[in-house]
Amino acid sequence: MSKQRVLILGATGQTGKSILQGLLKDTESFEVEALVRPTSAEKPEVKKIAEMGVKIHVVDIGGPLEELVNVLTGIDVFISAIDAMGQLAQLQLVTAAKKAGVKRFVPCAFITVAPPGGVMALRDSKEEVYQEIRKQFLPYTIIDVGYWHQVSFPTLPSGRVDYASVIIPRIKIHARGTTPTMLTDLRDIGTFVALIIKDPRTLNKFVCTYSEALSENEIFAMMEELSGEKIEREHISAEDIIASRVSALASSKAEPENWMAQARKFMADYEFSNYVRADNTPEYAKYLGYLDARDLYPEFKPKTFREFLGELFEGKVDKPYKQYRESAFGRSSLSFGLSQ
Ligand SMILES: NC(=O)c1ccc[n+]([C@@H]2O[C@H](COP(=O)([O-])OP(=O)(O)OC[C@H]3O[C@@H](n4cnc5c(N)ncnc54)[C@H](OP(=O)(O)O)[C@@H]3O)[C@@H](O)[C@H]2O)c1
Repeated sequence: MSKQRVLILGATGQTGKSILQGLLKDTESFEVEALVRPTSAEKPEVKKIAEMGVKIHVVDIGGPLEELVNVLTGIDVFISAIDAMGQLAQLQLVTAAKKAGVKRFVPCAFITVAPPGGVMALRDSKEEVYQEIRKQFLPYTIIDVGYWHQVSFPTLPSGRVDYASVIIPRIKIHARGTTPTMLTDLRDIGTFVALIIKDPRTLNKFVCTYSEALSENEIFAMMEELSGEKIEREHISAEDIIASRVSALASSKAEPENWMAQARKFMADYEFSNYVRADNTPEYAKYLGYLDARDLYPEFKPKTFREFLGELFEGKVDKPYKQYRESAFGRSSLSFGLSQ
């Protein structure tokens, strides 16, 4: 079979980097290219990607349609890993991909499983893109991944794992901590994506990836067992999560241009969906029609959360968004930071 030409938007970001690495491991199957916006063309991260042999296309996704069509012509698979706030900027890419004859469009999903329609504003902005894809009869695959391992571990009193933590301290237990939630190691997303985009069974389907589904109580217990430390928990009731969400929604409506207010709303939605509604579970994903990547690719063994913690204690985990951390919180990390 000839190689698939794959174009990634967001290859310098957290999710995009994992996807880039996953695809570059399979050079027999993929020829990997990256779409970069003009303002980022000179970034060292982009230069590093180019040095790996990845062809860089510098184009403004909000610019003239024809330029996008030119870049997308001949591309077999387009993958977007744009940041949370940028979802609707993908709409023109849908039109361009349809005109260019892209064989599979993978819009930026890569979040927890949730239903459309008012549960999560972020989910709904992604769904707007999915609806546009369907209206245009464009072949697609939606890939959701649950929560990353990298944002799911609590911090310890000793500070041993602070080096990799997006937020310190992180000790909250939501709604009694009993709800299981699907988890994927950020580094495994790319391997899953490589398997999924080669697979005809996943065309025009939703797919979810995870290593396991664990509750916060299970995660905290595992952390205590492996560290020998006792974590002082801060309990947040379901009622408090609901009340915070109502207040975050009001602020986000009052200040639609305020990035912080929107991020707060996104985080309040995540907590509501995951811990109050219990949406992010394999059972609910199946009910919503997702294919389960664990069933599709039993030969691939994703990193378990316990294995991840082992690496965490050995100092081997990269902190997500670390390039933003020098000056307080970065934009993207902030959306996780707000949950604590
Ligand atoms: N499941 C989870 O636990 C989890 C955690 C975090 C995020 N997410 C989801 O994952 C998705 C990706 O988020 P992330 O945190 O991985 O992203 P990120 O690290 O913030 O990176 C975003 C990427 O998009 C690129 N980008 C943004 N706007 C662009 C534009 N107009 N044109 C071209 N490129 C553009 C950025 O390029 P530059 O180099 O030009 O900035 C960067 O490479 C989000 O939609 C979010 O919903 C999920």
